[in-house]
Amino acid sequence: MRVIGIAGSLRAGSYNAKLLDAAAQALPADADYRRWAGLADVPFYNADRDEPGLIPVAAEELRAVVAGADGLLFATPEYNGSIPGGLKNAVDWLSRPFGASALSGKTVAVIGAGTGRFGGVWAQAELRKALGIAGARVVDAEFALPGAAEAFDADGQLSDFGRAEELTDVVAAFVGEVRVSAPESGPRVGAVVS
Ligand SMILES: Cc1cc2nc3c(=O)[nH]c(=O)nc-3n(C[C@H](O)[C@H](O)[C@H](O)COP(=O)(O)O)c2cc1C
Repeated sequence: MRVIGIAGSLRAGSYNAKLLDAAAQALPADADYRRWAGLADVPFYNADRDEPGLIPVAAEELRAVVAGADGLLFATPEYNGSIPGGLKNAVDWLSRPFGASALSGKTVAVIGAGTGRFGGVWAQAELRKALGIAGARVVDAEFALPGAAEAFDADGQLSDFGRAEELTDVVAAFVGEVRVSAPESGPRVGAVVS
């Protein structure tokens, strides 16, 4: 199973990138996980450039990375009550051509971290909405991490055991949905190796 993580923050010390890496620890052993870090290079969506031969290289790369994944795990901060512009822009590129896009039918889950009291729940809700409109299969599981500046231990794990278990449960729900939507990504039962 190929899983791509996308953090909505460009910040080097991003708590959302940390949260993705903590979530990735809960993926099964057969998962091939990579965090995609090309968000800063993707130009603003422009329909005039969404034509063969005119698509920016970084947008093409984003589409190829997502098309090759069985599932996507997003972690987004909240900026002014909503999705960071760069992440929304990526969703816009991924949503076209509508109905045949890299996101179409793709299983996605949204989690997020913030330094405030609510963990960016508005941004997560808006990202789920945008991804759903874009044609993704949005997993019905949520994980919001408030107080992110104090939430991780020195190894990058969540210090609170209960919260760590919740994150593991969300990842398990995501993995279950990925296996339903891309059954060939599951363990190969009965495969013969000669
Ligand atoms: C431009 C900007 C706007 C923000 N707006 C909100 C907000 O509306 N609600 C909130 O809870 N936090 C807000 N924050 C705080 C961020 O959610 C917090 O800094 C978070 O840790 C950023 O994510 P990161 O650590 O992954 O970079 C804002 C931060 C910035 C830089």
